[in-house]
Amino acid sequence: MKCLIATLLLLGPLAASASETVWLDTLDLAHIRQGYGTPQIDRSIRETPLSIGGVRFRRGVGTHAKSTLWLDLAGGAKRFEAMVGLDDAANGPGSIEFKVLGDGRSLFHSGVMRPGNAPKHVDVSLAGIKTLLLEVTDAGDGIGYDHADWAQARFIVNGRSPRTIDAPGEERVILTPKPRPAPRLNGPTIYGCRPGHPFIYRIPAQGQRPMVFSADGLPDGLSLDSASGIITGNAPPRGKYRVTLHAANQFGQSSRLFRIVSSDTLALTPPMGWNHWYAFYDRVTDEIVRQAADVMVSSGMADVGYQYVNIDDCWMNSPHNSDPLRVGPLRDANGTLIPNHYFPDMKALTDYIHAKGLKAGIYISPGPLTCGGFAGSFGHEAHDARTFADWGFDFLKYDWCSYGRIADGQDPAPPNYPTWGKGPPTLAGYMYPYQLMGNLLKEQDRDIVFNLCQYGMGNVWEWGAKVGGNCWRTAGDLGFELNRFFEVALKNAEHRAWSRPGGWNDPDYLQIGWIGGGHAGGAKPCPLEPTEQYAYMSLWALMAAPLVYSGDMSKLDDFTLNILCNPEVIDVDQDALGQSAAVARLNDSTFLMVKDLEDGSKAVGLFNQGEFAARVTVPWSVIGVSGKQEVRDLWREKDLGFFEGAFTAEVPRRGVVLARMTPRP
Ligand code: GLA
Repeated sequence: MKCLIATLLLLGPLAASASETVWLDTLDLAHIRQGYGTPQIDRSIRETPLSIGGVRFRRGVGTHAKSTLWLDLAGGAKRFEAMVGLDDAANGPGSIEFKVLGDGRSLFHSGVMRPGNAPKHVDVSLAGIKTLLLEVTDAGDGIGYDHADWAQARFIVNGRSPRTIDAPGEERVILTPKPRPAPRLNGPTIYGCRPGHPFIYRIPAQGQRPMVFSADGLPDGLSLDSASGIITGNAPPRGKYRVTLHAANQFGQSSRLFRIVSSDTLALTPPMGWNHWYAFYDRVTDEIVRQAADVMVSSGMADVGYQYVNIDDCWMNSPHNSDPLRVGPLRDANGTLIPNHYFPDMKALTDYIHAKGLKAGIYISPGPLTCGGFAGSFGHEAHDARTFADWGFDFLKYDWCSYGRIADGQDPAPPNYPTWGKGPPTLAGYMYPYQLMGNLLKEQDRDIVFNLCQYGMGNVWEWGAKVGGNCWRTAGDLGFELNRFFEVALKNAEHRAWSRPGGWNDPDYLQIGWIGGGHAGGAKPCPLEPTEQYAYMSLWALMAAPLVYSGDMSKLDDFTLNILCNPEVIDVDQDALGQSAAVARLNDSTFLMVKDLEDGSKAVGLFNQGEFAARVTVPWSVIGVSGKQEVRDLWREKDLGFFEGAFTAEVPRRGVVLARMTPRP
């Protein structure tokens, strides 16, 4: 007893400053960003007990590469300890690296860890450190099976406990100078149309209105409204027409090449526009679509080349829906699709969009129902293609959805329809519905850009153009795991050889500004950091991806417009050569994307996927140039000077420097 009292007395004065253990799994893990799934407490991402190299752990955090967790140490944390490794339940060829960084300095680096590797012990001092980063990388080979465990992870704390935080905030810096009052003509320098079809094109031009537009070499059959800059009429006979556009106002004038190619191929540059999906889901209405058209013009988006106003799913009737006003007969007695209550008059809607010089897009599935459970085209393809043309649509997104049940033989096909047998679809099964609709669209007396949406199945990039497609999604929905955008882009870039004028790889929409909120509504600001948003847009432009904004047009702010509307960045996307950039990996976290442009210059993206700013060098040997290059920073619209041998820039964390390099004698 005496002894115990003595011990308590001894501990008494010390207790105030005694160290305590704060387990990582007790902190708020909502701040973890990870490449797949959600953070797990005391279990792996597969929701199994934590286990590394056959060793079980009672507690810890299960996550998935690429994963980051930032902590404010609040002055109290003295040490960090953990056992780390790839979880045994991953059951596949994963490979990951664990990194612990204190105020940007490496404190621990596991090296590459693979399945079955014994857990590694982390034991680092946090003395003097303010901000800690716990990171799991994919070891540079993609995130498949990268199930990562921070087992027994704990802080030894003396004083205030650490707190998980979002990545250190960045300011939403607007890099692009505001458009000047003098005219600046933008948009593609080459444009495809089909002979004799209705032609509509609003010349993209920044600068103060009123402006007077004119054109040299405009083919017969087309006329230009000099005040609005809208060209209308009927597409000229087959051939190439070299037109020069002009715009003038009291501050100056601007001219730009505009080659019209009248042939079979549309979308000679990647389509640009807006799509309702990621902001409005099944709440879309005629009013929302009209508003998008209004804002496309009033915000200046149309002045840099955005032109398609596209309706996605849920404009039709559905057999069952929580909103009774979207339920009703799918077709009338003639077999014509019946739009739901929210779309009272499709022709009036496209007229409204066309009156602004813009184009209208619509959506349906080759299956009996769309992904959202609304009317599909199955068995009515010819009728629907004609209906879309009659209604005045210029773009069709054709989304696989319930066609899967036909293609794998689960649902019966009507007579005269090829049957594919039971089992996974064959290549012919993948291609058939798209070939069918592709042919039908070509028969219409309108130019209808054909957008294949089937998530990359059957290597669609290899045959998308053959079936009449002008762009094709190369993967599933980007959805709201937006921090995957680097990975999604790099995957899409693997198919660069198939991307060319008239047929583009599509990594899904631009989701910045106000997006998401699901079917119930309540869009939120894009969760990506400002530097990430610059990187996102730059990747899409370098890959010659369709630039389709899918956010709430009524909530566009200056920062979002600055990302969407830099005309020099858009020129990279819309370049007439139509090349999709090649990727050159420099190290774990940095890579270059290099795209040849028609004028002999190159667009080069210096990307940094890492969590801290990095100096990135572009050696001439890597991008295939020599001699003197003039380098221009496209986001800042600023010449950086002449360089020989290499160009180096400081690239922000998870960001980009986008440059154009022009050879100079
Ligand atoms: C699929 C597509 C999306 C969207 C929805 C609509 O998920 O990939 O882009 O069109 O269907 O239901």
